[in-house]
Amino acid sequence: MNGNSNCGSGTGETVVEIRNLWTVFKSPEGEQVVHRDLDLSIYRGEVLSLVGGSGTGKTVLLRQILGLEHPAKGQVKVLGHPPGRMTATSAAEVGMLFQHGALFSAFSVLDNIAFPLRELKLLPEDLIRDAALVKLQMVGLEPRQATKSPADLSGGMIKRVALARALIMDPPLLLLDEPTAGLDPEAADDFCDLLRSLHRELGLTVVMVTHDLDTLFDLSTRIAVLADQRVIVAGTARDVIAYPHPFIHEYFLGGRGQRAMEALHEGAPSALVAGRPGAGAVPSTER
Ligand SMILES: Nc1ncnc2c1ncn2[C@@H]1O[C@H](COP(=O)(O)OP(=O)(O)O)[C@@H](O)[C@H]1O
Ligand SMILES: [Mg+2]
Repeated sequence: MNGNSNCGSGTGETVVEIRNLWTVFKSPEGEQVVHRDLDLSIYRGEVLSLVGGSGTGKTVLLRQILGLEHPAKGQVKVLGHPPGRMTATSAAEVGMLFQHGALFSAFSVLDNIAFPLRELKLLPEDLIRDAALVKLQMVGLEPRQATKSPADLSGGMIKRVALARALIMDPPLLLLDEPTAGLDPEAADDFCDLLRSLHRELGLTVVMVTHDLDTLFDLSTRIAVLADQRVIVAGTARDVIAYPHPFIHEYFLGGRGQRAMEALHEGAPSALVAGRPGAGAVPSTER
């Protein structure tokens, strides 16, 4: 099994193609190889979740897809653009929800959402405002929130505003770095519901880093596991859990993982196990 298998709601059209990727950081102490010969394909329409231990290079992989990091070797091809050729305009095709929301504290909610559009200087101000208001509504916030400052928002609302900003250019590809981290369980569930409906309504391709097993099983159509500096396995939950690796054993088959798998078994509306023989069955390794 490798990063090329396709399933879930993907159509088979490749949106991101990563081949033999090496990411290397140089420091006075020497070189740190974060990714070594990493391969991964991401298909249109899927919600691909990236899991892996802390510091394994999940965020750096999202930054490679965004074009913010550059391969030491190998290729990252995004939406058909030649590798290394993501320009300011093509960057508008990829929306990113950063891990900590990263709103500008001195800007209002509306100005935060409008920021990428203003930077492009292509549209008149009234159209920019309207576009930002549409996105505000899309993420479930009311127009009266538009003038608020980030300091006056709850954690869940900050995530929503950051999501509205990530979607302002109508990107076909959305990257989410720990979208539910720091939210209480109720806010996390609400945010998952929002992400699920936006994925469906906008026909987005989503790449999501998450540590949260509920979010993982709730939203993913495919899971890719990052360990040993590469994607060791990508596929359905069943594919992934069947792969023998100490990280997978600990992550999915420990107490937290067992509970999440039971929820999946009880009929969580995930495409993770759909369409497979014995869909929903808990693998014997779990018992
Ligand atoms: N800009 C950078 N310069 C040097 N090292 C970095 C940089 N960004 C990330 N790293 C290192 O790369 C490794 C992977 O980081 P990251 O992708 O943030 O991990 P995570 O999987 O927890 O998201 C870490 O050891 C981190 O310290
Ligand atoms: Mg990270």
